[in-house]
Amino acid sequence: MSASTNPILFLGSTGYLGGSILARLLVHPRVQEFDITALVRSPEKASVLQSKFGVKTVIGSNADLDKLENLSAQSYIVFSCADSDDLDAIKAIFRGLKKRKASTGKTPLLIHTSGTAYLNDDARGLHTTEVIYDDTNVEQIQNLPPTAFHRNVDLAIEEADAEGFLKSYNVTPSTIWGAPSTPLVDAGIQNTGSIQIPYLIKAGLGRGQGGMVGKGVPQWANVNIDDVADLYIVILNALLTNPDSVGHGREGYYFGENGEHTWYELCKEISKALYELGRGKSPEPTAFTTDELVKYFGSEMFGYFFGTNSRCRANRGRALGWKPTRTTADMLASIKAEVERVIAKSG
Ligand SMILES: NC(=O)c1ccc[n+]([C@@H]2O[C@H](COP(=O)([O-])OP(=O)(O)OC[C@H]3O[C@@H](n4cnc5c(N)ncnc54)[C@H](OP(=O)(O)O)[C@@H]3O)[C@@H](O)[C@H]2O)c1
Repeated sequence: MSASTNPILFLGSTGYLGGSILARLLVHPRVQEFDITALVRSPEKASVLQSKFGVKTVIGSNADLDKLENLSAQSYIVFSCADSDDLDAIKAIFRGLKKRKASTGKTPLLIHTSGTAYLNDDARGLHTTEVIYDDTNVEQIQNLPPTAFHRNVDLAIEEADAEGFLKSYNVTPSTIWGAPSTPLVDAGIQNTGSIQIPYLIKAGLGRGQGGMVGKGVPQWANVNIDDVADLYIVILNALLTNPDSVGHGREGYYFGENGEHTWYELCKEISKALYELGRGKSPEPTAFTTDELVKYFGSEMFGYFFGTNSRCRANRGRALGWKPTRTTADMLASIKAEVERVIAKSG
């Protein structure tokens, strides 16, 4: 590809995940070929992105559908890292990319972020499962119910890919863990906290002891923030060098996984850290009551999310050369520092 052939639209650039990917794009050996525009909600963060990092910015949100469509129409690659569940936004991106394909004849690329919550069962903390999803097993993923988490958006993306006006690459991280360390963090414009683990820590702080759903028996996959950000770059590099080698659409699911943990193992580490820091009554987690599920997670049903199985193997990314290095043991060893970060942030 020659210079300036890659206009990139970046959504979610100030996020935990998106910021970590953008930071990698900015030091990519082929950065001179990228012309990055970020859609950013905060004018203050946009100003820093522009002045300090040279990223073009447009102020707006995913709700600005016309803006999203127009920006997509000017892009060869869209990184979608803001919201896995915004169907209206993804349809606006489709409209734009359809125009792009019509005006250039070249098929644009959509690198979208989903999540392994679509593999969840309803174990409620009580049992594990032998069902392990493999992202190279197309039939297994196609058999997921359309009602699964994120699936409405993912199915719409599959259809768009099948229509042929874009090629889609669906990166599906499991539990992402770890503190990002990027120049965007240093500049104070990147979110530094993930989702699941901080949720459980905040619940533990609230009840004065680590909690878990049921007996914490089910298993989830996990992946470190730096490793999963690298996965996006591995996919991008393959697209830049040998696009035909990269599965897309129904064959374009890329799990982010490098090991598994039980909820008990995770919640035990949280409980231990809270106890050691004088914020928990016992180093052992106890089961959340129904009232606590509602209080700390918003609803009983969402609370049960933290007692599901979501087991998977990331074989498709590894086949492209992805080599995650941080393990489940590293994740468990990182929990005390994560608890300290959450306490520091919450004052
Ligand atoms: N973290 C995980 O463990 C994990 C695992 C699997 C999947 N995912 C999914 O990956 C996506 C990103 O996760 P994350 O952890 O990086 O979240 P995050 O830290 O909250 O980042 C979200 C990013 O998107 C932007 N954003 C959110 N809603 C937007 C909207 N309506 N319009 C414009 N920008 C918007 C945020 O901008 P502001 O700076 O303005 O807030 C921020 O830059 C989410 O959909 C999440 O469900 C996350």
